[in-house]
Amino acid sequence: MTTATAPNAPILDKGLANTIAAETQMSFIDGSKGVLEYVGYDIDSLARNSTFEEVVFLLWNRRLPKRAELDSFTAELRREYDLPAGAWKLLVEMPRDAAPMHALRTLVSALSLFDAEADDNSPDANRRKAIRLVAKTPALIANFDRHRKGKSLVKPDSTHSIANSFLSMLNGAAPTDAVARALDVCLILHADHGLNASTFAARVTISTLSDLYSAMVTAIGTLKGPLHGGANEEVMVMLNEIESMDRVEPYIRGKLARKDRIMGFGHRVYKALDPRAGYLKTFAKQVAADTGNMHLYEMSTRIEQIMAAEVASKGIYPNVDFYSATTYHSIGIDLDLFTCMFAMSRIAGWSGHCIEQLDGNKLIRPMADYTGPHALRYQPIEKR
Ligand code: ACO
Repeated sequence: MTTATAPNAPILDKGLANTIAAETQMSFIDGSKGVLEYVGYDIDSLARNSTFEEVVFLLWNRRLPKRAELDSFTAELRREYDLPAGAWKLLVEMPRDAAPMHALRTLVSALSLFDAEADDNSPDANRRKAIRLVAKTPALIANFDRHRKGKSLVKPDSTHSIANSFLSMLNGAAPTDAVARALDVCLILHADHGLNASTFAARVTISTLSDLYSAMVTAIGTLKGPLHGGANEEVMVMLNEIESMDRVEPYIRGKLARKDRIMGFGHRVYKALDPRAGYLKTFAKQVAADTGNMHLYEMSTRIEQIMAAEVASKGIYPNVDFYSATTYHSIGIDLDLFTCMFAMSRIAGWSGHCIEQLDGNKLIRPMADYTGPHALRYQPIEKR
């Protein structure tokens, strides 16, 4: 298969880096110019002007809503914030020392047990389930965090936005407008991103005509890895390890000399600055200044300078995870919840992609290049 020359013969494309495996109308990326658009709208203008709820409407309907449409969509989401009784019961049964991404994957899977439409793959049922998934995930994450800390569970407040309601549950107190807006912006920036690894995984699962919950579970498991969504957590671990400005240079240069990867840098598609990182950098500076975390921002910019001198020639720049670490820490999110924040947003993209995949579905099933031996003779076990 690797040396195939016939027209249309399959070629080995490791990591599928040069394979287009799906069509989408949700997000567009130009990796060489550092452009990201949702349905034609530049990510920067959405981060400045929009809300997460409006962006979800945009991604799912391929247009911005009118006022009445947004009000009705927001109301629909808010009616679904609360969890089924069975999910509240399961939450308190979760081991308190479970890693949050394992807990989230398990709890999202459990939601299917309480949804009569779980196996209905019609577009209308999948849209209703997508709304439930986006609406309920914040309560799962915030209340798992409360449970593991021995705090009482808190119901979502359906008079507030997703970002505000999540932070109110997490902290047991309403966030300031600035903090709620900071989270809202992070949710906007993470909502969709072409055929990234977790979205691809979700599309593979739904392409078998499985169900939306199973696809979300696949995606959460895929997002968790440190080469994908888990990188934001690793960035914070790195900033904690570095501790102070004078240690930045030896730490980063030492890692590069050992050929270790610097988390929060590099991207399969962007060979210029990830536009989400550009916006988040400005935002992280403001949030860090407001919350007494300027040292994190300053260490981050120093890391960026060293990386620019050392590896920018390879097309390695900060990605979305780099400055989201400082932003999440500054707004009081625990380090091991960072990747859950990513999932809370990307679930909008994953579910939109699944609905897109089912419209004209074709089973996603690539081939493997077999590199083992052939024509071996079976030996009875005593003779091996
Ligand atoms: N630090 C140092 N060097 C790097 C980094 C990095 N973060 N990323 C890539 N490189 C180097 C590689 O060592 C390689 O160098 P070489 O050609 O001298 O051997 C070159 O850049 C190309 O690297 P690849 O692994 O081939 O690039 P790929 O496209 O497969 O990897 C990836 C992309 C996985 C994101 C990579 O850049 C990485 O590991 N980054 C760190 C993890 C991270 O931040 N992930 C989040 C991505 S964004 C997201 O998922 C939300």
